[in-house]
Amino acid sequence: MKTIATINFKGGVGKTTVTWCLGDVLSTYSRSKVILFDLDAQMSLTQAIALDAEGNSSGKFASWYENAAAHDKTIFSALRKFLETDLTGFQADNGFVFRLAENYHFVPSTEQLYWLELEAPDPGKGKFFIKNLLGKVENSGALPKYDYALFDCPPSFTMLSYSVLTSCDLILIPFNPDFFAAKGVGLLIAGLRHRIQPHPIPKLAVFANRARTYGGEPTKLARAWISDVRAACDNVSNQTSWRNLRTLRKRSGKRRGNCCVLRGA
Ligand SMILES: Nc1ncnc2c1ncn2[C@@H]1O[C@H](COP(=O)(O)OP(=O)(O)OP(=O)(O)O)[C@@H](O)[C@H]1O
Ligand SMILES: [Mg+2]
Repeated sequence: MKTIATINFKGGVGKTTVTWCLGDVLSTYSRSKVILFDLDAQMSLTQAIALDAEGNSSGKFASWYENAAAHDKTIFSALRKFLETDLTGFQADNGFVFRLAENYHFVPSTEQLYWLELEAPDPGKGKFFIKNLLGKVENSGALPKYDYALFDCPPSFTMLSYSVLTSCDLILIPFNPDFFAAKGVGLLIAGLRHRIQPHPIPKLAVFANRARTYGGEPTKLARAWISDVRAACDNVSNQTSWRNLRTLRKRSGKRRGNCCVLRGA
């Protein structure tokens, strides 16, 4: 199972949208089995998924969600249990995972995650939560063998995001090309490196989302900001402590590439 997390400490750049679309594309077009986790206490993805195509509340999800909360089968219950003891006895099954479609499954968030950092008895232990939870999912007789696990992370560095970042294969970093983007992306990558080491650093893919366009192409200004971000990525990958990283330019099928991948050599 490949694990992919979408993260940026900046809010509103499209993390949730990108994760949701990626899950949909992988499960619909490549027929992969996908499990999607909402790790953000803002619950944007959970709220979006709770709505049907007409924007009305979906009764099926609402009653499933109530049931999950009543039976302590939410991501918060699992994390609390893990922090108190371990995940022994926690069943990763259909009460924990909602079936959006045959190949596309979902673990929703809960607003209780907001207060977790303040109340956790041993926050350090939380780092290993996702690795343990994925072990439960992979060994569950009630769930399929997933090809991908996708994680929508909050716009901040929480215990849960740390836990994902230290056990995922790929980190997606969407950014909006604007004046602040290069500085923000540079700081984010440097911060991730600092926090993830000594765990192996996963592949990082940095790409522009919501670029202003003119005639179907990014505007001159948007292109300038995209190249500032690329320079910030090059700068990080050229630093001595990142010698094992190299920058791969992706052209994204377009004339002007707006994606940059950093990965272990
Ligand atoms: N490519 C896009 N084109 C148009 N609208 C977009 C695009 N990507 C995101 N949006 C819109 O931008 C807004 C913010 O997106 P989203 O909620 O995915 O960001 P986020 O990074 O997850 O935010 P947060 O930091 O609050 O979690 C939403 O209204 C979303 O519909
Ligand atoms: Mg979001």
